[in-house]
Amino acid sequence: METLEAIRGRKSIRAYLDKPVPKEIIAQVLEASRWAPSGVNRQQWRVTVVTGERCKTLAKRLVERAREREPNTPGSGAGGPPDVSRRMVALRADLTRIAQSLGQSLWEFVVLGSYRLYDAPVVVVVSHPGRRGGDIPQFVTTMLVAAHDLGLGTCWLGYPLSYSDLIRQVLEIPDEEQIGAVVALGYPDPDSPANAYRSPRDELEDFVRWVGYDQD
Ligand SMILES: Cc1cc2nc3c(=O)[nH]c(=O)nc-3n(C[C@H](O)[C@H](O)[C@H](O)COP(=O)(O)O)c2cc1C
Repeated sequence: METLEAIRGRKSIRAYLDKPVPKEIIAQVLEASRWAPSGVNRQQWRVTVVTGERCKTLAKRLVERAREREPNTPGSGAGGPPDVSRRMVALRADLTRIAQSLGQSLWEFVVLGSYRLYDAPVVVVVSHPGRRGGDIPQFVTTMLVAAHDLGLGTCWLGYPLSYSDLIRQVLEIPDEEQIGAVVALGYPDPDSPANAYRSPRDELEDFVRWVGYDQD
């Protein structure tokens, strides 16, 4: 796949096939991800790849915790600059429509779904030793694109981070590492309406300022 095609084609996958992902394929994804840029080449990332019973246990424990604490649905407190809150409200409406088509509420589909790791066969937890987590987004973004290139689907999951203590406990992540990102990974279910959705983007003229290009 061409690089630009992989970047444009990646999207969040919220329904997965019940099909294991070979370790070698995940190693290929991580092999590409390790080339992500990092400040002063710190490479402050550690990766825990989880599948099988431990992955199911993690999802089950996260769902139990979410049911006790009832976290908010995405976009419910949409604030900030008007264009940002407009996008959040739009995503909330789109995800609500998908939830309805699945016979679920937004809370069940996205909130519980996120804690359930969307039933993905693999979850990847990216942590960082020390206080600085600045290298994590580059690593994870590279990983999502590489996974897509290899025919895998992913969803970056912010919700489970609120129960990092539980993730640390279940996966035995060392105390000196901070958990920075959780990513569901697996083969996309091509028949699920959840995966038919493509979130929109602003046009270039909405967010780019060209300087020195219009000199007559
Ligand atoms: C830091 C971060 C946290 C996210 N957390 C969640 C989440 O908990 N649940 C979820 O379904 N999607 C989550 N997403 C996915 C975003 O909703 C998604 O990236 C955004 O709507 C753009 O859509 P796309 O990824 O399909 O292009 C998260 C994305 C990022 C970058």
